Amino acid sequence: MIDAQQKLQGQVAIVTGSSSGIGKSCAIYLASLGAKVVVNYASNLEEGQKVVKEITESGGTAILVKADVSHEEEVKAMFNQTISTFGKLDILVSNAGLQQDSSFLEMTLEKWQKVIDVNLTGQFLCCREAARQFVAQEKAKTEPDHSELSIGKIVLMSSVHDIIPWAGHVNYAASKGGVMMFMKSISQELAPHKIRVNSVSPGAIKTTINKEVWSDPEKYKGLLQLIPYKRIGTPLDVAKAVAFLVSDDSDYVNGETLYIDGGMTLYPEFADNG
Ligand code: BGC
Repeated sequence: MIDAQQKLQGQVAIVTGSSSGIGKSCAIYLASLGAKVVVNYASNLEEGQKVVKEITESGGTAILVKADVSHEEEVKAMFNQTISTFGKLDILVSNAGLQQDSSFLEMTLEKWQKVIDVNLTGQFLCCREAARQFVAQEKAKTEPDHSELSIGKIVLMSSVHDIIPWAGHVNYAASKGGVMMFMKSISQELAPHKIRVNSVSPGAIKTTINKEVWSDPEKYKGLLQLIPYKRIGTPLDVAKAVAFLVSDDSDYVNGETLYIDGGMTLYPEFADNG
């Protein structure tokens, strides 16, 4: 459905890892606000095609681009394809991420490396490419534009585990803790270029990444005890916050982390303890 306000009309957005889960919802929601969207996937072609179809069938614009965000050449090719198709870039939602869980004692270097490569190095590669593009297209402008607004917006997908330690998932928690400081540091560095960088930190959102938890009634009950708001989140809960952060409504918001977690970061176990 196309939103009447079309807040992102004419803007071009790359959403990494948007063939499923939170990324998919972001791609569809940004398109409903008028953005032309690059739907990126690493391996699931069919799911990526479905997302593009859903967007175009409801009147939006989208293309599908395959790239593993942890591979520099593939990231560069994705940005080149974006520019050759749409002529510019306004928004990056650096979302692609994964979990490869293991107890610390059993954790292999392979599992550690894979998660750091995709969740942290992948964000570095995509954010660097986006920032370079924003600066280059600004320089190339022939007409001075007197707008005070940001010339490019980046939102990184973090997690509540950028501040909540997570036993059994130390590769994931370390990657997201890294994302937070990476985001704040590049935000400080890029703000003088009028590029805004922020992140969102979802709590438990109902996607395949945590299906094992929400599909098991006992585990689901345990999960709800960690959420003061007493419901699991939806991908759309996150997409709406992302849309705010990439729109001019948040033009003075820089280097912030927005927790979208139903209160998971409020130390819920202290509600009647301590
Ligand atoms: C993880 C989910 C988990 C949630 C809350 C997310 O970042 O990917 O698996 O349910 O954090 O713990």
